[in-house]
Amino acid sequence: MHTQKQLDEKGLKATVVEHPLVQHKLSLMRSKEQPVTAFRSLLREISWLLCYEVCRDLPLEDQPIETPVEAMNAPMLQGKKLAFVSILRAGNGLLDGMLDVIPSARVGHVGLFRDPKTLEAVEYYYKVPHSMSERLIVVVDPMLATANSAIAAVQKLKEGGAINLRFVCLVAAPEGIAAFNKAHPDVPIVTAAVDSHLNDHGYIVPGLGDAGDRIFGTK
Ligand code: PRP
Ligand code: URA
Repeated sequence: MHTQKQLDEKGLKATVVEHPLVQHKLSLMRSKEQPVTAFRSLLREISWLLCYEVCRDLPLEDQPIETPVEAMNAPMLQGKKLAFVSILRAGNGLLDGMLDVIPSARVGHVGLFRDPKTLEAVEYYYKVPHSMSERLIVVVDPMLATANSAIAAVQKLKEGGAINLRFVCLVAAPEGIAAFNKAHPDVPIVTAAVDSHLNDHGYIVPGLGDAGDRIFGTK
């Protein structure tokens, strides 16, 4: 496991959300004894807190409103509605909680799976909101392993006009952060944890296993 300080010392660029609630919930999720229902609801709860972190510096503008007492200029989110983009299918586990926090967000989906032999990302679906260049795009996927999936998804979104992007995950490998930083140095990463390393099958160690299978109960 890497702390924010260790990550910084290695020159890897990512924000690790070290809040005790996030860390506690993630530890509960990692346990192989955790049933699907608990895994899913913990992921939803953590995504509220990760959403809070990734939106920490969103620009505000004052808008006139009237309270029951008097008129005031009140701070409101500026600009076009942000869009969450879920990398299917495990991204949907994070997406649900993000939408609890920002129900008006637009939503895109990029369907990718990892070829188990080459670990390359294979695309099978792409649908995103209009005006991508004018929105903040928050890409969500619980796992950043080799980063092949996240790199491909962000590349595709940039080709579709996205300029202002951020990536949120639950567990990252140092190898994945290094690769993602190299491919997309302009895209900040927010993660709940940075684990030790990748194993020979491209799984994060200690990680939490296959996120999609654990969310959807497919194994
Ligand atoms: C998992 C995960 C990421 C990807 C991470 O998806 O949700 O998308 O692996 O690995 P990478 O960083 O090495 O690309 P998977 O390919 O298992 O598909 P799924 O979500 O459909 O289960
Ligand atoms: N995808 C997962 O779901 N888990 C890993 O550890 C690596 C890739």
